[in-house]
Amino acid sequence: MRLEGKIAAITGAASGFGAAAARRFVAEGAKVVLGDIQLEAGQAIAEELGDSAVFVTCNVTKEDDIANLVDTAVSHFGKLDIMYNNAGIVGAVGPIATTPAQEWKFTVDILLNGVFYGCKHAARVMIPQGSGSIISMSSTAGILGGLGPHCYTACKHAVIGLTKGVAAELCAHNIRVNAISPAGMATAMVANVSTGDPGAIEETKKILAANSPLKGRPGMAEDVANAALWLASDESGYTSGHTLTTDAGITVGATTNPIAFEEYQPLFREAGKSGLE
Ligand SMILES: NC(=O)c1ccc[n+]([C@@H]2O[C@H](COP(=O)([O-])OP(=O)(O)OC[C@H]3O[C@@H](n4cnc5c(N)ncnc54)[C@H](O)[C@@H]3O)[C@@H](O)[C@H]2O)c1
Repeated sequence: MRLEGKIAAITGAASGFGAAAARRFVAEGAKVVLGDIQLEAGQAIAEELGDSAVFVTCNVTKEDDIANLVDTAVSHFGKLDIMYNNAGIVGAVGPIATTPAQEWKFTVDILLNGVFYGCKHAARVMIPQGSGSIISMSSTAGILGGLGPHCYTACKHAVIGLTKGVAAELCAHNIRVNAISPAGMATAMVANVSTGDPGAIEETKKILAANSPLKGRPGMAEDVANAALWLASDESGYTSGHTLTTDAGITVGATTNPIAFEEYQPLFREAGKSGLE
């Protein structure tokens, strides 16, 4: 019961990471307000979670919808301890020279402006409360170039920047602000990109397992939910402004081919000797 007595709001809670976090948070004693544009799927998860969850329609491109999500947490459950800015799409794809400006702006609206609204309205209620944990979804594409489309990469980098800036401001109010950067994980988003079918989660796990530095181990929505759980709980009480990767070490150079690494070691040792002479 690591979140006993805590109230959370989660955007994009009808699928993938958001749904997994809702289930994990409730299993750990939290009550959760689920926000999403997918009405039926969101309501189904709220029903599954019973009295511990309530669903509201929330389009993260609309500031009023996010304000309502936050206000629902306060009116229905009494306060807001955890704000999880998770909703996202892949968005504008293709070469920079031909990316349509409208698609770019639409993507920024969801991936960056939605996170800004989430931080803003969470701060509105958390500052008077004098406590809170804000978690925003970045990506390995928020750390390295070339892992996602241009707009996605730019927005996910910006989420890390926003996280640092807001963390620096809100520490004075005992509010912690952190981000999560997953690699490709088995959710509807990646299933759609990998197979063309958002429902093909099992097939996606096999594809991810074959490409994982942690041999045979795909990244799963539950891995990200566990990272969010730690950032949401008091166990991370002295951590703010941090970006927690759930990427099997990809952003620090882990590869699917450790044999190559072993082959390099003797060469490194030889090179090191010349430095010692
Ligand atoms: N799956 C991955 O490998 C991966 C890796 C890194 C980062 N991410 C990020 O994680 C977050 C969640 O992705 P996921 O993999 O769970 O995808 P998903 O498609 O399973 O879930 C995303 C949810 O966001 C909702 N959503 C989309 N647009 C919205 C809007 N305008 N307002 C409110 N809700 C909206 C969708 O309806 C859906 O329920 C996204 O921000 C994504 O960029 C995913």
